[in-house]
Amino acid sequence: MDIEKGEYSHFMMKEINEQPSVIRRIIGKYFDENGEIKKISSRIFKEIEKSDRIYIIGAGTSMNAGFIGKEMFEKMAGIPCEVHIASEFAYNIPILTEKPLFMFISQSGETADLRAVLVNVKAKGYRTLTITNVRTSTLAREADNYVEIHAGPEIAVASTKAYTAQIAILSILAYMVSDKHIDLRKELSKVAISIENIIDKKDYIEDLVKEYLTKRNCFYIGRGIDYYACLESSLKLKEISYIQTEGFAAGELKHGTIALIEEGTPVIAIISQRSISKNTRSNLNEVQSRGAATLVISTKAVKEAGDQIVVDDVYELFSPILTIIPAQFIAYYAALQRGYDIDKPRNLAKSVTVE
Ligand code: G6P
Repeated sequence: MDIEKGEYSHFMMKEINEQPSVIRRIIGKYFDENGEIKKISSRIFKEIEKSDRIYIIGAGTSMNAGFIGKEMFEKMAGIPCEVHIASEFAYNIPILTEKPLFMFISQSGETADLRAVLVNVKAKGYRTLTITNVRTSTLAREADNYVEIHAGPEIAVASTKAYTAQIAILSILAYMVSDKHIDLRKELSKVAISIENIIDKKDYIEDLVKEYLTKRNCFYIGRGIDYYACLESSLKLKEISYIQTEGFAAGELKHGTIALIEEGTPVIAIISQRSISKNTRSNLNEVQSRGAATLVISTKAVKEAGDQIVVDDVYELFSPILTIIPAQFIAYYAALQRGYDIDKPRNLAKSVTVE
């Protein structure tokens, strides 16, 4: 049963482990055997293709997935894309382009902050698409179109498999309107295998957490798409371990935040992109020389001696689906080692239906 823990001690651990099968389910649902996309209506295709800017609206983890989606729409399909915090956008709408398309990303499909935006932009006559795990949800029903992420029920408050599923779906939507220069089905299949390779190393990650996550604070740093992965990584960690943590654009650290680095402050760097790996490395050296205890999550292509966690090389825009897996385990084990309620962290709700 999807809604039972089975052999796992927590839903979060179960849901982290389900991610390879979720990616494979998405491949099965949305690709035919020739690698062509199926079951996404031509109406959705046309609306994305003819929009002059996509506005992604989300909250929490879903918004963080939206940042990766932005990279995909811009880099794969050449469509400008902005990501907005739903609760901000609702009451402070920026100047819009002529043909905007609004994409609402929501695991539950019930988040009130998003609904406030949906009602507002629909009243103005703009086109809307919801990406959700619950096809019967309010946001799915009220938007012009919806796409289901097929992650299966997510019970743990800290979202894991919905994040990776949302990114997979966003990649399919971007790919649909791109020049299709890669075989997306194949690339996604590789991702599923590579997630399994990381899951196999979870005991090692547990040991790293004991060694490094010893303080009340922690920083995640990265650039570009790795920065976006850092936002989600730090959100996971703070939600369940209550460690005070933020994701920072690595280059921005020296403009203020570096003042917080003390002897032993944990700083985790995510490095997956060849073009900027040297820059993040030099930021890492800056914090190291001020006493930080540094831990690196990198990909094989950019790894250096001493990197503690190295994940496989995949299509570059998919690296956040891989680098987030060790970060999910880091959050899980940090909470476990502190004895906290992993599936039901204090003050948080799975679905937030009030503004
Ligand atoms: C709540 C949850 C978060 C989630 C956010 C957005 O705050 O605690 O884990 O990311 O809502 O939820 P949604 O269902 O819209 O993705």
